[in-house]
Amino acid sequence: MTAAPATAHAEAPAGTAATAARDLFRDLTGSEPAGVWSAPGRANLIGEHTDYNDGFVLPFAIQHRTAAAASLRTDGRIRVASTFAAEPVEVALDDLETLFPSAAGTARAVHDSAERAAVPEWAAYPLGVAWALRALVPAWAAGTFAGVDIAIASDVPVGAGLSSSAAIEGATGSALNELWGLGLDPVALAQAGRRAENEAVGAPTGIMDQMATMLGRADAAVFLDCRTLETRSIPLGFAEAGLEVLVIDTGVKHAHSTGGYRERRESCERGAAALGVPALRDVTVEDLPRAGELLDDVDFRRVRHIVTENQRVLDTVAVLAERGPRAIGDLLVASHASMRDDFEISIPELDTTVDTALAHGAVGARMTGGGFGGAAIALVDHTLVPAVSEAVRAAFAGAGFAEPHLFTVVPSAGPRRDV
Ligand code: GLA
Repeated sequence: MTAAPATAHAEAPAGTAATAARDLFRDLTGSEPAGVWSAPGRANLIGEHTDYNDGFVLPFAIQHRTAAAASLRTDGRIRVASTFAAEPVEVALDDLETLFPSAAGTARAVHDSAERAAVPEWAAYPLGVAWALRALVPAWAAGTFAGVDIAIASDVPVGAGLSSSAAIEGATGSALNELWGLGLDPVALAQAGRRAENEAVGAPTGIMDQMATMLGRADAAVFLDCRTLETRSIPLGFAEAGLEVLVIDTGVKHAHSTGGYRERRESCERGAAALGVPALRDVTVEDLPRAGELLDDVDFRRVRHIVTENQRVLDTVAVLAERGPRAIGDLLVASHASMRDDFEISIPELDTTVDTALAHGAVGARMTGGGFGGAAIALVDHTLVPAVSEAVRAAFAGAGFAEPHLFTVVPSAGPRRDV
């Protein structure tokens, strides 16, 4: 069955970010950029919080993009401007080391916020990418890199769990890779993006978002083994099956540099240590009774989420291949229940969204991303998108929640040079 989408795809038409970034660059410098590079946000189909446990994830890049218009300059300084900040930030490339002193390569040893306060948080993403590339490229140390001006604009909703940060990292990394002639592959650029996020911004995240951004393909998800960084492109076939992915952004903002995300990560690390394994990736569903004996109730439930979620990712890949996308609904629903009850990262707005979407005929639904706010996704027959959307809006109004923001996303391609 083939079907045309029933609703317009998200508000921002393709190319909006690239145009805005180029306009901002002209305002900043009075000249044309040498190029404009863009990278997408992502939605995660399934596999939540499994990435920093060396496990499996199945995200896909979306059509919303962040663009970086950039040119080299001759004075060894880096200046970043963005449409979401009034003032550009400028530093000498040599000062990046002082701004983001190396945390010796450990993702865990992030600096506290006082040390990073020297630059506004948004600027730590692009500046952090420039800093992280140094570690990969010995030539940097010899001072062979020119300075650079970068202007950033984005169509990716911020704080919605759609990886606006990985999109900034991907666009900036792609621009610097080409302007500086580094020749790095997409995986190396994803690693630089993660390092920026972990050590320059201070969010102890895994590598899912950066890999999804860098390796996305149209109509496919990125099946990633977060231990080996091996990937496989998994055809999704949503459009062919008459399905849409509806994103319901609750508008509740989250930040992964603080609080709950870090605590969940620490629970997982305690669980792995108690079970005597390098990471929870090495624990199977059969090991859970033993985990129950060794761990307190909270840590046990955190571990159970990771172990069962890893299995659900593998099952989803198998079901997609064998029975197609309409058959993955139960796995999405089970994933949401596990995040709600065991990992405890959902919020009432997300639970209401999932329950309402399912009650109105969604094939499956779950919160997506790190949790504590952000968005849910619902896999919906295209004919039901208006009814499900209406029902979710009504349920939010009835519960006294702020009005949600609804739009559809399409699995899309990774980074590209736009201009
Ligand atoms: C955020 C992080 C990712 C991942 C997800 C949860 O998006 O950036 O690394 O941990 O949360 O799956």
